[in-house]
Amino acid sequence: MIKQKKIKAPIVLLLIILTFCVGCKDASPENKEETIEQDTVLKYSDRFSYLLEYPLDSLAFPRSTDGNGSIKKVPSKDWTSGFFTGSLWLIYKMTQDERYSDKAKEWTAFIEKEKYNDKTHDMGFKVFCSFGNGYKITNDESYKKIIIESAQTLATRYNDTVKSIRSWDFNKEEWQFPVIIDNMMNLELLFEASTYSGDGKYYEIAEQHAKTTLKNHFRNNNSSYHVVDYDTITGDVRSKVTHQGFRNESSWARGQAWGLYGYAMAYRYTKNIKFLEQSKKIASFLMNHVNLPEDAIPYWDFDAPNIPSEPRDASAAAIIASGLIELYEYTGDKKYLDFSDRIMSNLSSMKYVIQNESNIPFILSHSTGNWPKNDEINGPISYADYYFLEAVLRKENLK
Ligand code: GLY
Repeated sequence: MIKQKKIKAPIVLLLIILTFCVGCKDASPENKEETIEQDTVLKYSDRFSYLLEYPLDSLAFPRSTDGNGSIKKVPSKDWTSGFFTGSLWLIYKMTQDERYSDKAKEWTAFIEKEKYNDKTHDMGFKVFCSFGNGYKITNDESYKKIIIESAQTLATRYNDTVKSIRSWDFNKEEWQFPVIIDNMMNLELLFEASTYSGDGKYYEIAEQHAKTTLKNHFRNNNSSYHVVDYDTITGDVRSKVTHQGFRNESSWARGQAWGLYGYAMAYRYTKNIKFLEQSKKIASFLMNHVNLPEDAIPYWDFDAPNIPSEPRDASAAAIIASGLIELYEYTGDKKYLDFSDRIMSNLSSMKYVIQNESNIPFILSHSTGNWPKNDEINGPISYADYYFLEAVLRKENLK
């Protein structure tokens, strides 16, 4: 039976804000201006219901908005399909309102066919955010099977000479075997599939991929390149470039975020101390960066040419906030938690939460998807919402 509990979005947002108020200077009750701003958010935010009410359509997962504010809709094969779906699962965890889990199940089912899609490395984003969250919540054995089948497909992209999973298949005239820092995020699916199936192969591939990325993606200052291209015959590095950053030697904000989160997660499964150290080093690079704005929501690239007149990337901020909570769990170092709180407090403010009058199915604005292509600049994007919600839950779980 479907429970028709009315979602109290303002109450949930209050929970979010209270969660991140503690220990955070910007959001402290003494700071009157910030308190008023949060009250305004409470008054006008009804964001979760807009995700729930968004019409079900297997070909139209909401990904972002275009410059005119209309929703960019994508099919399940798009790398982002799991985020909207995953957000519904996470909102269910927060609210226990079964309308969200019912809706999440319906959207999740649309993604099942991706388990056979071997044309991309984005299996983790698509399948783990949807079926992975769904499995943890429902214990549905059919979800577990789909996760294992997806891992089997993803494993076919592993090359034993390069010792990595191939990220992309496009741009073959230029790249032989491109691996992007983002690929770290897809390892979680492999680690979990090893546990679910008892087959160590997925674990070994994931651990080896993380080791190869550690060796080749990072600069001396612990920032990372976006793309490393490998020679498939020798396994040697052919080039280190960018695709979504400002230039090859710049530090694309979301790439740094994927690295921080990815190595904390890889440590969770392997307990390889080098992975934990790398996550800490990336955190140090980000947290102390001279171009990080006061509210800790990064510009889309740390080396973008017109800082401070550059768009922000709230998605990078949300990923960093969530990753830092995991880092705090392993290190006990409060600076990571404080920094995560600072980000989350600011993301929860009126500046970043979309205001009520817009019924688009997103929570946060001010994310930047692909600046070099002038695509998804300074607007809502589904993965910002997903990692924002995940950070809320991770913080709650610490208690
Ligand atoms: N390729 C995933 C991203 O844009 O972060």
